[in-house]
Amino acid sequence: MTAFTVAIDGPAAAGKGTISKAVADRFGFAHLDTGLLYRAVGRRVLDGADAVEAAGQLEADDLDRGDLRTPEVSRAASRVAADPGVRAALAAFQRRFARRAGGAVLDGRDIGTVICPEAEVKLFVTASDETRARRRFEELRGKGLETSFETVLADQRARDAQDAGRADAPLAVAGDAVVIDTTEMTIEAAVGRAVAEIERVRRSV
Ligand code: C5P
Repeated sequence: MTAFTVAIDGPAAAGKGTISKAVADRFGFAHLDTGLLYRAVGRRVLDGADAVEAAGQLEADDLDRGDLRTPEVSRAASRVAADPGVRAALAAFQRRFARRAGGAVLDGRDIGTVICPEAEVKLFVTASDETRARRRFEELRGKGLETSFETVLADQRARDAQDAGRADAPLAVAGDAVVIDTTEMTIEAAVGRAVAEIERVRRSV
């Protein structure tokens, strides 16, 4: 089986994770949530580690920790993600994963622009600030976390600005990406749009 890479980028809580998992299931591709790599490094830094060293020594166990999705870790992840040394340390693993036999879906911020500019399919998944913050707020509340919608929205805006404003691999739409705005879409419709795009490309390669 040959390699086939689907790159899915976009801002926080736009629906990348849901779409990535559905697409991976549907086509039998492996899935890598690259945000988890930065979250794991951010977590290690909060525990006192050096960021670049932590990025170079990440192990599978680091990605399995149950405490990687908290607002504190989100902020730490975005901070370490602005460090070019951290990004360089994580790049080779992501590129190897992308080209594995049988196909791979990677979701993140710079997959279509920096990690896999040669990806067969590039999607940029987005939604309005308020819609994304509402989804994240409900997810956090569902986990029992005490927070307010305004706090989630402010945190998210700060993180988006940091991710889009950094010098190295900022969040940006690749010139050849298909943009999916999920603001007014059901999950099924958004997944359907992604699946249709992948099928279109698969027929032509
Ligand atoms: O996707 P998620 O919200 O889990 O990502 C956490 C943080 O990791 C992002 O805010 C961003 O700073 C960083 N990240 C990145 N490049 C990626 C994936 C995530 O810089 N490919």
